[in-house]
Amino acid sequence: TRESRVERVASLIRDVPDFPSPGIMFKDITPLLSNPIGFQAAITELVTSAPRPIDTVVGMEARGFIFAAPVALALGAGFVPVRKPGKLPGDTVSASYELEYGENTLSIHRDAVRPGARVMVVDDVLATGGTIGATAALVRGLGAVVAQVSVVMELSFLNGRDKLAELGIDNYSALV
Ligand code: PRP
Repeated sequence: TRESRVERVASLIRDVPDFPSPGIMFKDITPLLSNPIGFQAAITELVTSAPRPIDTVVGMEARGFIFAAPVALALGAGFVPVRKPGKLPGDTVSASYELEYGENTLSIHRDAVRPGARVMVVDDVLATGGTIGATAALVRGLGAVVAQVSVVMELSFLNGRDKLAELGIDNYSALV
């Protein structure tokens, strides 16, 4: 059942205190990935969250790739990577977002998503929403529609969900 899958996924995410710096509780997905039943449960639930049809699944470097690619295959959709700057060889467009200290930039191939395409964005974690916000801006900048945003896990105390709502992303789901 959906409940048993979600419970299994939650139980396979490990809390690591003080990583990568003191006071931070890191959510480690590697126990989930190394457990084939758990990993499959996560993919099944992400696939179930998708409104059909989906033309393209976009995943973000690096941990987003792990979940987005199997979801794309299951939906019969293409997979498109959003990457950190300087990694994609073709003509790219980029979007930046603010961090507490400094900023991050993400890029996508200009020809990777066709105008009007229905896109699903998949990542491992929603924290502040900066990564998903920038990715949605890239997808929309190419004239495509963000039909769904799905993540494995949400850090609700960072209010990323509110940020996505402000950006007009109303089809959002988190497994855990
Ligand atoms: C992590 C995570 C999300 C993002 C969420 O990626 O995989 O993509 O942070 O945070 P946000 O909602 O505040 O933007 P990270 O930048 O650590 O890169 P990685 O996937 O390469 O480890």
